[in-house]
Amino acid sequence: MSDSFVQLSDVTLMYGKSTAVPELNLSIREGELICLLGPSGCGKTTTMRAIAGLLNPASGSIHIDGRDVTRVPANKRGIGLVFQSYALFPHLNAFENVAFGLRLQKLPASEIKARTEEGLATVGLTGFETRKPAEMSGGQQQRLALARSLVMKPKVLLLDEPLSNLDARLRLEMRTELQRVQKETGVTMVFVTHDQAEALALADRIVLMQSGKIEQLGTPADLYARPETAFAADFMGFENIFRTEGGKVVTDHGALELGFVPQSPMLAWRPDGVTVGSGPHQGRVLATSFAGAHREYVLETALGPVKADADIALPEAAIGETLSFDLPEATARPLAA
Ligand SMILES: Nc1ncnc2c1ncn2[C@@H]1O[C@H](COP(=O)(O)OP(=O)(O)OP(=O)(O)O)[C@@H](O)[C@H]1O
Ligand SMILES: [Mg+2]
Repeated sequence: MSDSFVQLSDVTLMYGKSTAVPELNLSIREGELICLLGPSGCGKTTTMRAIAGLLNPASGSIHIDGRDVTRVPANKRGIGLVFQSYALFPHLNAFENVAFGLRLQKLPASEIKARTEEGLATVGLTGFETRKPAEMSGGQQQRLALARSLVMKPKVLLLDEPLSNLDARLRLEMRTELQRVQKETGVTMVFVTHDQAEALALADRIVLMQSGKIEQLGTPADLYARPETAFAADFMGFENIFRTEGGKVVTDHGALELGFVPQSPMLAWRPDGVTVGSGPHQGRVLATSFAGAHREYVLETALGPVKADADIALPEAAIGETLSFDLPEATARPLAA
């Protein structure tokens, strides 16, 4: 197992004169499922295109499995690609779609048959051999696209938002499926998404990107519990983020005295980290909604709006009512400026 199976070193990616990704450094381990996560335009697809060889770096180098591939063309890199539009061949049946790349390699017919059948079995499509893509569901088409890449035995499989045009239920199903296939085949996967929940559920490690740069890199548990910046915290669901001043949290709106003196320039709380129904502060209910296990409140406070989740056992407060709340030290996440 290599710790830098895919290695991007000081890679700068440009479109004409504009820099999309400046001096990116990223090591991907062999057999890892890594997620590139970040808002639209942050450089996820650009980074993938560089790994794939579809975009040449203006400077820097890319190594895959110990080999410098910076100047190696896309079709010689041993990379598999699965995009949002599956780009299946509509006139070919499932078997022929999967066998296509193997036929180009002029492999013996018996090997093509065996590998294609194995590929279809891996994604649970045995029995669908003679179906055309148009006769398959969205999820089945997605799995077919995955099988088509997998049979080529790529060193690295790149998936760019492959689940984004599936409905919510299918997305969940395919997520689990992808994870299973990845663990079973041991293929190194780079998965792009702008869906935080998807990244948390799938990844061994998450690369959170902003404006072409890595904002934070870590395991899902790491990023979820310990975002380091306001950007990362916001992405990970810390919906209340404030600056600190002495023993206070402040916004452009006002300030609140805390029961402790923060050691960081910013603090963040998740809605479920805010105490509701007791505490030294008062907030007026701006909005309330039932969320099954808890009730979500938006409170108008001295800081402006504060989002707080209340225990469902507490009596519901109506819009306009005043609720006590607290921003406890125990649930505060310290953030860098
Ligand atoms: N072909 C192109 N020509 C010029 N600029 C481009 C091109 N493709 C992307 N860009 C710019 O490069 C930056 C990064 O784009 P990229 O496609 O990598 O974003 P992304 O993170 O994949 O976003 P999304 O989530 O919307 O797919 C953006 O500012 C974008 O406008
Ligand atoms: Mg993209």
